[in-house]
Amino acid sequence: MIADEQASALLMAILFRGLNPRELGTWTRAMINTGIRMDLSSVDRPTVDKHSTGGVGDKITLPLCPLVAACGPAVSQLSGRGLGHTGGTLDKMESIPGWRANVAEAEYIEQLKTVGAVMCAAGADLAPADRKMYSLRDVTATVEAIPLIASSIMAKKIAGGADALVLDVKFGSGAFVPEIERGRELAEIMVGLGEAAGVRTAALLTNMNTPLGRTAGNGLEVTESVEVLEGGGPADVVELTIALAEVMCELAGVDADPGKKLRDGSAMDSWRLMVAAQGGDPNAVMRRAPHVETVTAGESAMLSSLDARKVGEAAWRLGAGRSRKEDAVSEAAGVVWHAVPGDTVEAGQVLFELHADDPQRIPDALEALEGAAEFGDSVVGELPLILERIG
Ligand code: URA
Repeated sequence: MIADEQASALLMAILFRGLNPRELGTWTRAMINTGIRMDLSSVDRPTVDKHSTGGVGDKITLPLCPLVAACGPAVSQLSGRGLGHTGGTLDKMESIPGWRANVAEAEYIEQLKTVGAVMCAAGADLAPADRKMYSLRDVTATVEAIPLIASSIMAKKIAGGADALVLDVKFGSGAFVPEIERGRELAEIMVGLGEAAGVRTAALLTNMNTPLGRTAGNGLEVTESVEVLEGGGPADVVELTIALAEVMCELAGVDADPGKKLRDGSAMDSWRLMVAAQGGDPNAVMRRAPHVETVTAGESAMLSSLDARKVGEAAWRLGAGRSRKEDAVSEAAGVVWHAVPGDTVEAGQVLFELHADDPQRIPDALEALEGAAEFGDSVVGELPLILERIG
């Protein structure tokens, strides 16, 4: 038994001194060995998993999992909940009436074999040391240490047991690690940890200066994901979903064309099966929040930037996110934006919709959105959505 004081001192030492690759490998293996490693060997197709370091409007896992399943590999997704200004996959999926996040291990394996995709809550026995460590990191202000982030994510992912893993590592204002250089370092370390553990791993370093798609909020993001699966949806969500699916298929050794599977409706068929297998109603229409406030453009001009962090903060204040693990989230609250950088808007045109169950949340959200949309002659600091691939 290691006393909290000693563990905290170690975490602080890691924040200041880092860990060399050998130490990091040992540390990550020790975290994995505190729990079980899932055995997916009875699934008769290659298994693949995905992790995103989190962002605003990042609903990519929702269309991605059924899309990859439609291409051939089985997608095993043990997910978490959102904290702070970024949303979590389980929170989004739970806005589908009837859908349940808890799936027993035998049922999990069965669903992987029959449907080819499962998104569910990670059990408490997956790298349990991480939970303990995370709460100590929280109180000792050591959450941000790159080796601690990398080992925390990878211990849980390696314990999840998939053959291959794609990482979507975000940089930008709405990202957990905003700086490109630190994002790249995190991606390289995580890819190294995955490969050393025998999991074929690659990462895409992607832009989170601007929020993804047109919505941030649980049910709103489900609706947008379904639009993508129907062959529509915002171009950036479609682009990133297909790019990650291509990497997942490649890592799984499956020759497939994800773009075609999205267009021909196969991904939608997989989504419906996946939702129904966990009690959800694939035909359900998401509940609409009773209070919707709009923000309009004061002038006719071109949108030069849309700040992901501010939009995420507004969605969180409206009730879409939580500050503490125990907090409930609203399935209907969130933000919809009607313009993206590069679009020209007319004076009086709606820029934002703020959706809330409780109208008293709206003033705080409006405050968070102040300065989120900037106008000018050119798009500020334009960087591609997908900056590079690592691994
Ligand atoms: N997500 C995790 O699972 N762990 C971290 O340390 C940071 C993000």
